[in-house]
Amino acid sequence: TLSNSTNIFWQESPVGKLDRQKLLNQKGCVVWITGLSGSGKSTLACSLSRELHSRGKLSYILDGDNLRHGLNKNLGFKQEDRTENIRRVGEVAKLFADAGLICIASLISPYRKDRDACRAMLPDANFIEVFMNMPLELCEARDTKGLYKLARSGKIKGFTGIDDPYEPPLSCEIEIQQKDGVCAAPGAMAGQVVSYLEEKGYLQ
Ligand code: PPS
Repeated sequence: TLSNSTNIFWQESPVGKLDRQKLLNQKGCVVWITGLSGSGKSTLACSLSRELHSRGKLSYILDGDNLRHGLNKNLGFKQEDRTENIRRVGEVAKLFADAGLICIASLISPYRKDRDACRAMLPDANFIEVFMNMPLELCEARDTKGLYKLARSGKIKGFTGIDDPYEPPLSCEIEIQQKDGVCAAPGAMAGQVVSYLEEKGYLQ
């Protein structure tokens, strides 16, 4: 990776990742939720966080929309900005996972290479990609924020799924889909992720 800094050193921490894992009884990781606007990313993130909390597991949500009010307030939606948005959130998620948390990142993250770059940052396959595979028609019909309507009428340019790309994962750890045209309840979707985390030993 590019670095503009010189004469910088890496400072080791006296308490290591394994010490923190023992303290928390869990293994830090990143659950990265990707999908179109209105596909239910935030709903899943909230439900998952609630479920983990009730099991005594520490998680933290990094929500794209929310981070754009602070850390990423200088970024828009053109390709370079989205790439930088994902890179920054990937770096923060990496720190949270290293701290021992189950970090739930919820961003459209439309470009495969950007998500793959975040995956590559995380050691030991601790990147769990969850694809909210919902049809555009469904997301648009929901239009919870009224943004699809604005995009269709040309009032927002470069809206994902309308006049901006979304590249679905070629392979991901978890895929959330409708069954017979019906979406699972948020609790059931969260359950799918929790089962995966249990199976892989993140919730000790
Ligand atoms: S990205 O693509 O990952 O950088 O986007 P993200 O940080 O997740 O932010 C997505 C939210 O921003 C709102 N919004 C837009 N989305 C897509 N395209 C355009 N042009 C756009 N403009 C604003 C929208 O509310 C997204 O929220 P979600 O939660 O995904 O619906």
